[in-house]
Amino acid sequence: MSGKFITFEGGEGSGKSLQLSRFAEYLKSKGHAVITTREPGGTETGKEIRRLLVEGDKDKFDELTEMLLFYADRRIDLTKVILPALKENKIVLSDRFNDSTIAYQYYGSNKFADTKIMDTLYQMVAGDFKPDITFLLDIDVRQGLERSFKKAETMANKELRFENVDISFHERLRNGYLELAQNAPERFIVINAGGTIEEVTAEIIRKYEERINA
Ligand code: TMP
Repeated sequence: MSGKFITFEGGEGSGKSLQLSRFAEYLKSKGHAVITTREPGGTETGKEIRRLLVEGDKDKFDELTEMLLFYADRRIDLTKVILPALKENKIVLSDRFNDSTIAYQYYGSNKFADTKIMDTLYQMVAGDFKPDITFLLDIDVRQGLERSFKKAETMANKELRFENVDISFHERLRNGYLELAQNAPERFIVINAGGTIEEVTAEIIRKYEERINA
């Protein structure tokens, strides 16, 4: 398999979705075949799972049910979108992947003693497959939440189930992501997502070029 799998991770309001689409444009301008996906919701079936997960009351599922839904969505995304595109030598950009589950369900929710269940489910869903590069868009928690609420006001966004939780959740999430990045520096590229859209895109491209030319 000679395509490349690149994921974008980050907390609420980190701007990763916008940055992913700008990075896709950059890669296309360099002549690469690029496809984008997202988790949850990269496929039609995945969109139905996404609706179940992100809309409505934040306590409507217990933690295990919620996590199983994320892995079900991941399995569909992987088998229907990601792996077929990599076989065609495309660059696949995913808005979130497994690090989101570790960051949100393990570090953030604080309801699991360790990552054993996630690791087992991941192995069943994806085996030894992992992203080639993961951009972590790191942002101050309050700045991120402010951005996220502003966007929700203007877009009549119903997807607030995960934002409707306390600040300490988001602090644990941010620190968890930074720990994941520290433990896998060969895969992660940490980006300061607090700047303007243009500044963040420039940092992503600069660090990407440094990484692939290293
Ligand atoms: P998004 O709005 O960034 O696309 O993500 C939807 C929400 O789902 C977001 O609050 C993060 C959450 N999420 C998890 O909690 N676990 C996961 O494994 C994934 C992929 C997303």
